[in-house]
Amino acid sequence: MNADSFASIAALVKARSGIVLTPDKEYMLDTRLAPILKQEGIVNMDALAIRLRDARAEALARTVTEALTTNESSFFRDGKPFEHLKRLLPKLQGARPPGHRLRIWSAACSTGQEAYSIAMVLRELGIKDAEIFGSDLSREVVDRARDGVFTQFEVQRGLPVQMLVKYFRQESGKWRVSPDLRGMARFEERNLLGDHKALGRFDVIFCRNVLIYFDPPTKGKVMNALAAQLAPDGVLYLGGAETVLGLTERLVPVTGERGAYGLAENRSLL
Ligand SMILES: C[S@@+](CC[C@H](N)C(=O)[O-])C[C@H]1O[C@@H](n2cnc3c(N)ncnc32)[C@H](O)[C@@H]1O
Repeated sequence: MNADSFASIAALVKARSGIVLTPDKEYMLDTRLAPILKQEGIVNMDALAIRLRDARAEALARTVTEALTTNESSFFRDGKPFEHLKRLLPKLQGARPPGHRLRIWSAACSTGQEAYSIAMVLRELGIKDAEIFGSDLSREVVDRARDGVFTQFEVQRGLPVQMLVKYFRQESGKWRVSPDLRGMARFEERNLLGDHKALGRFDVIFCRNVLIYFDPPTKGKVMNALAAQLAPDGVLYLGGAETVLGLTERLVPVTGERGAYGLAENRSLL
């Protein structure tokens, strides 16, 4: 692939998703896009770059962008945020008027392990008045999250066996989340670069292991947009390799809790 082709595909992916592809990722383009070239009968990456310059290639641009997302996830990933969540949710519930439904957003939810982990925490705490909203850029992973069916390999990563037995049913060699957990979560395609005002306020937002793929200005923009959707005493969880430092003034770390952030203007509530 020539340098111009790489640059134009990388610019398209960045504009559509925020994901930055540096030249050392050329191998990734080759491996991830090869099936698309084959399916579309496109001879090589240079020809693909030319096809993508056509404004009518919307579906192809979307397929290419989605193919370049990394959808790695697991149940109760990194542990600590879920330990904090177990302590946080009863506190938030206690601070809300009776009948208030706690709202939790798993932004960039991938195949749904994060959203269903949150659902299990809620069930274990006996909190019924709650809703989980899962969203991701990629249609394919949102469909999988909605389906709620996981392979043996996926349930073996991070899910304690007693939780597997309690909340999943075996089905044709795979594991389906119980209708109860499934009913707690709603999934939708949504771009983190978009406008989220219509979603309203969330008590908790998880946005983990996605900002690492963005450049600093995009990270800052997304963090500010998420901060705008957070309840005054709400918490935003970021991934272990992500921080707000130097990127936004609106969020501050929750003292002693790695990966948990609250609104700077309400730091006394954290
Ligand atoms: C590595 S996964 C993280 C999944 C989960 N949050 C976790 O930590 O296990 C990153 C996800 O971010 C999604 N993603 C990438 N860019 C996005 C964007 N601009 N808007 C929404 N989701 C995006 C990808 O499709 C992918 O599913």
